Formats: sequence, C-alpha cells, structure tokens
Amino acid sequence: MIIILLGPPGAGKGTIAVEIKKKIDIPVISTGDILRNAIQDGTKLGQEAQDFVNSGKLVPDFLIMKIIENRIIQQDCNHGFIFDGFPRTIHQAQEFDSISHQLKKKIDQVFYFEASHEVIIERLSSRRVCSQCGMIYNLNYNPPRIQGKCDQCGGALIQRDDDQVDTIEKRLKVYQNDTLPLVHYYQGKKLLTTINADQDVQDRFKEVWEKLTELNLVGEN
Ligand code: AP5
Repeated sequence: MIIILLGPPGAGKGTIAVEIKKKIDIPVISTGDILRNAIQDGTKLGQEAQDFVNSGKLVPDFLIMKIIENRIIQQDCNHGFIFDGFPRTIHQAQEFDSISHQLKKKIDQVFYFEASHEVIIERLSSRRVCSQCGMIYNLNYNPPRIQGKCDQCGGALIQRDDDQVDTIEKRLKVYQNDTLPLVHYYQGKKLLTTINADQDVQDRFKEVWEKLTELNLVGEN
C-alpha cells in the first residue's frame, strides 16, 4: 500500500502519519525528518540540505529523489509505505510515477489536508518536537506532561529552526507556488481525498480510516 500525505506546513501530516502507523505496520517516510537527521548528524546530505531547510526553501529535486530511491528499496517497504512531505513538486511526482511503474507498485491514495492560514501559523509557532525520538507536541493542543520533556523518552523538546514566524510565511509561499499544483495533478489521476485539517486529530483520522476501509485497503478496525 502506498499512501501520500499532502498539505501545507503545519496541516498535521506528521501527526496523522503517527495515527495511521499505530494501525498499519508500514513505515512512514518523512523527507523532512530524514533531512533534519542528516543535518544533525553532519552528513554530506545534511550539509547540502541545511541552508534550504533552515530558510524554508525546497531542497533540490535531485537530492530528494536520491533519498526516496534509496529508502523505498529497503526491506521494510516491501508491503508499502506512507509518504509524509513527499512529493512536493510536480517533477518529484512525475519521477516517483516512473519509479513506481518500474517497481510495479502503485499509489493507492493521496490525502490532501487543507488548513487555514491562521491555524497553520498558530499550530507551527506552538509546535515542539522531541530532540531524541521526534515525537510531535503542541503547547496549546497536545502539551507534554512535564514541561520541556518528551512523555515517551524523556528527551528535551525543541522548537524547529524553520518554525519561526517569518520562516513559516516563507514556507507557505513556497508551498503555494511549488506544492499546491499537486492537488490538481492527483485529482486528475482520481487519487485525491480532501480532509479538513482544521478539525481535531481524531475526526481527521476517522475520515482517513473510513476512506482506506472504503477502498478495501484496511479492515474495519
Ligand atoms: P517537513 O518536515 O516535511 O515540513 P512541512 O511539510 O513544512 O510540514 P510540517 O512538519 O511543518 O507540518 P505537518 O503537516 O507535519 O504538521 P504536524 O503534524 O507537525 O519539511 C521541512 C523542510 O524540509 C521543508 O521546508 C524543505 O526545506 C525540506 N523538504 C522536506 N521534504 C522535501 C521535499 N520532498 N522536497 C524538497 N524539500 C523538502 O503538526 C503541526 C503542529 O500542529 C504540531 O504541533 C501538532 O501537534 C499540531 N496539530 C496537528 N494536528 C492538529 C489538530 N488537528 N489540532 C490541533 N493541533 C494539531
């Protein structure tokens, strides 16, 4: 099964990916997480990507495609995967179409999370993430039990460099120009389901799960 989570920064793609993963044992591939880990580890990829990520620009397609090609051939992807934050340009989508065709795999569904500008700014400026395990929190909606500490692993919670308001605004512009056209692209392929991302996490997840059930991709539970 191949699922794509598409939507603006802060729409809650990562949060929903965690919910889906609780029910389906396939990996979540977040290009954002892969890039941030590479930056933190100081790898060649990290060095090449750092300035783009921290300033809210897109990392060049050829680097992203290298990440994807290497990741999806790993064994844990044999039964499928969930993309969180990929593809982000028409070129990336077309490249993935040709890779999946070669691998005789197909995209099952694209969930497009539509969220208002105000909600995005509010959610991202109050987001905190665990520096150890990547767990996502929100100071307003989903705060940790102990201030500044991850409930799961006790790691320190940090604010992402690109979650400063001026960088969020830049990311939103990039999203409008480069990523939003994918909505039309996947609509044309009859793969798109739109979810109102302004509603709470459980209601959004319910809609996603109902669609996956309707498509016979998962059982009722
Ligand atoms: P990436 O990490 O993918 O960031 P993004 O797409 O901007 O998305 P976010 O992670 O900011 O938001 P999200 O939708 O996952 O929201 P979340 O669930 O955390 O990419 C970062 C950068 O890497 C890019 O800018 C680019 O430079 C580079 N990059 C990555 N992929 C690339 C690609 N394919 N090509 C080129 N460059 C690439 O939720 C946000 C907050 O809201 C959290 O605090 C959460 O707790 C809260 N929340 C979520 N849902 C709800 C809800 N329903 N109600 C209340 N609060 C909620």
